[in-house]
Amino acid sequence: MPLPKPSPNETVVITGASSGIGVELAKNLAERGYNLTLVARRIDRLEALASELKAAKGIEARAIATDLADATARVGLVAELEQGPAVVGLCNNAGFGIFGRLDRNDPEAELEMVEVNIVAVHDLTVRLLPGMVERGAGAVLNTASTAGFQPMPGLATYSASKAFVLTFSEALSADLSNTGVSCTALCPGPVRTEFSEVAGSAGLEDSMPSFTVVEASEVARQAVDGMLKGSRTVIPGIANRATAIGGRLAPRSLVLPIAARFTKR
Ligand SMILES: NC(=O)c1ccc[n+]([C@@H]2O[C@H](COP(=O)([O-])OP(=O)(O)OC[C@H]3O[C@@H](n4cnc5c(N)ncnc54)[C@H](OP(=O)(O)O)[C@@H]3O)[C@@H](O)[C@H]2O)c1
Repeated sequence: MPLPKPSPNETVVITGASSGIGVELAKNLAERGYNLTLVARRIDRLEALASELKAAKGIEARAIATDLADATARVGLVAELEQGPAVVGLCNNAGFGIFGRLDRNDPEAELEMVEVNIVAVHDLTVRLLPGMVERGAGAVLNTASTAGFQPMPGLATYSASKAFVLTFSEALSADLSNTGVSCTALCPGPVRTEFSEVAGSAGLEDSMPSFTVVEASEVARQAVDGMLKGSRTVIPGIANRATAIGGRLAPRSLVLPIAARFTKR
C-alpha cells in the first residue's frame, strides 16, 4: 500500500495546513491515525490545529512555520524534517492564484506564485522522495487543479503552474511504479476556501455552477483515499472530471474563449 498504515515513528507532512483544503487533509489523516507535520506561514493557526488534533485524535502533530516562496526557508524545513520522524507522506498542497492580465499584475507576487506553486513542490518532492523510495513505502500528494488541464486567460501563471504540477505528478507516478511509493495529482475544481479572496476574486465559487463546487472536507477525503490506493489523479466531482477531459481534448480555439468567460472579472 503506497501510504503505509500509521506508525508512531512516522509522519505525514502537509503544506498549506493553515487554511482550506490543507486543514481538511490534516483532519482526515488524523482521523485515520496518522501523525502530522503541519507547514505554512501562519504559525498560530498551525499550532491551534496541531493542539486540536492531538487532543481529539491522540496523534502526534507539530507545526513548522515556513515561507515556501523562500529557498533558504525550504532548506531549513527539510533539515528540520530530517531530524524528526520518517516522512511517509508528503502533501504539497500550499498554493495561491492571482487573477488578472499579466502586465497588470504585481511582478513580485507573480514570482512568489511560481516559487510556491511550482518550485516548492518540486524542491520538497526531490528532497524527500529518496527517503521514501529507500524505505519502499510512501505517498506524495500534489495539489494541482482542474485549471491545470487547459490554459486559462486571466489566470495565465496560475493555470500554467497547475499544468506543471499535473504533468510532473503524472510522470512521477509512472516512474515510481514498483517502488512502493506513489504520486497522486489532486485536481479540485472550485472549493470554498480562502483561495478566491487571496486571488483577488472573493466569492468566485458563488459565480460558478453549483454542481461544480465540492466541499473541502470531501476533496480531502478523496485525496487521502487516493494516497492510500496510489491513484495517479484524483478529480473530485463528476462535473469537474468531465471539465478536465474537455480541457485536455478540446481544441485550444474552443477552450480559450470558454475559459476566459469563467475568469473575466
Ligand atoms: N479553492 C479552490 O477553488 C482550489 C481549486 C483548485 C485547486 N486549489 C489548490 O488547493 C491548494 C490549497 O488551496 P485552498 O483552496 O485551501 O486555499 P487557501 O485556503 O487560501 O489555503 C492556501 C494555503 O497555502 C498556504 N500558503 C500560501 N502561500 C504560502 C507560502 N508562501 N508559504 C507557505 N504556505 C503558503 C497558506 O498558508 P499561509 O498563508 O498561512 O502561509 C494556506 O495554508 C492550493 O494549491 C490551490 O491552488 C484550490
